[in-house]
Amino acid sequence: MRHIKHSSMWVGLVIILPLFWKGITCQLAGYSINVPPSVSVQEGLCVTIPCKFTADHRNTFSNSFGYWRLEPPDSYYIVASNDKSRPGRKPNFYLTGNADSGDCSLTIIDVRKEDNGTYYFRFEERKTSNVKYGFNNDALTTIIVTDLTEEPVISDPGTVIAGINKTLTCTPPGNCAATSLVIQWQKSNVAGVWENSSTVTFTPSLSDHKENITCQMRNSNGKKTEKTIVLHVYSSPSDKEDSNDSPSNNENSNDCTVRAVDYTIIIGIVIGNIAAFILINVASYFCLKRHMEKRQLGNGTPDSKTEDKESTYQELSGQKTDIYYNLKAR
Ligand SMILES: *[C@@H]1O[C@H](CO)[C@@H](O)[C@H](O)[C@H]1NC(C)=O
Ligand SMILES: *[C@@H]1O[C@H](CO)[C@@H](O)[C@H](O)[C@H]1NC(C)=O
Ligand SMILES: *[C@@H]1O[C@H](CO)[C@@H](O)[C@H](O)[C@H]1NC(C)=O
Ligand SMILES: *[C@@H]1O[C@H](CO)[C@@H](O)[C@H](O)[C@H]1NC(C)=O
Repeated sequence: MRHIKHSSMWVGLVIILPLFWKGITCQLAGYSINVPPSVSVQEGLCVTIPCKFTADHRNTFSNSFGYWRLEPPDSYYIVASNDKSRPGRKPNFYLTGNADSGDCSLTIIDVRKEDNGTYYFRFEERKTSNVKYGFNNDALTTIIVTDLTEEPVISDPGTVIAGINKTLTCTPPGNCAATSLVIQWQKSNVAGVWENSSTVTFTPSLSDHKENITCQMRNSNGKKTEKTIVLHVYSSPSDKEDSNDSPSNNENSNDCTVRAVDYTIIIGIVIGNIAAFILINVASYFCLKRHMEKRQLGNGTPDSKTEDKESTYQELSGQKTDIYYNLKAR
């Protein structure tokens, strides 16, 4: 029973472990590689395939050789290497990783449709060393070449000032040193092609304000993509100073005007109130005076409002008393 259990466990491991390790490592022999199984790249652009490996349990060597090859059956077709006696045969494939430090990274520029295919890395420590290994059983990498759709990248124009030269550059996306792409510039107020190179230097003028600048990128297959920016042109420094100053001056004078208006209103309200108060008092004084004069009954001080009221009351009460007496008398 125990034997059967153990042997079935071992059979399981033997089946499962290679599945885990396939395409990733071959650690049992001291050889391992870490590289993506497939990479997609657009026609005309560039790609760097990151790749790390160990050989004989190490990743430090000296004067070692690395080779990228087409997968079998063309496995002796070297596409890139650092071995001058067996150079790579694809001029746009570069072993950019340093094999002496376990780096097998592969860079492809100006990718063409015919670069699609499956590749693998082979390591040789020295011609005489036994440390030689092709990772074609461990990790194959398929390069998938697709149509160009990514737009070029126009450098940030920064502040564009009339009369001060500006240089713009247009590059393929992804820090790519592609040379097969044709770059052309157009400017909405210039007929036809504005510039034929990846950089353009021009003297902006105020009439360029809000004009479009377009960079077009074309690959060897004739596929084009483009990127457009809108120019914002500012006046030259002296003009800019003026135009900067005058709005701020205007703002300040506006502030002053607003404050002056505020004070005028406040002062106006105060003066208006005082004037109205005086007018009302003077008017009521003269009204009362005239009233008093009309009703002058020889009652001492005719100027006092209260006395006037009192006297009026006395008159009325006096009348009431009279009326009362009159009624009683009947
Ligand atoms: C690569 O493209 C060619 C046609 O251009 C095709 O015949 C070939 O099968 C492709 N290879 C791969 C691996 O996709
Ligand atoms: C750009 O190149 C085209 C031909 O591809 C040419 O006709 C045109 O005059 C050139 N324009 C400039 C501004 O160099
Ligand atoms: C500005 O650019 C124009 C057009 O490229 C060039 O002719 C001129 O010499 C440049 N001026 C300066 C000061 O760089
Ligand atoms: C700039 O490009 C936009 C979008 O294509 C267009 O609507 C606009 O009219 C262009 N401006 C000029 C000045 O040509």
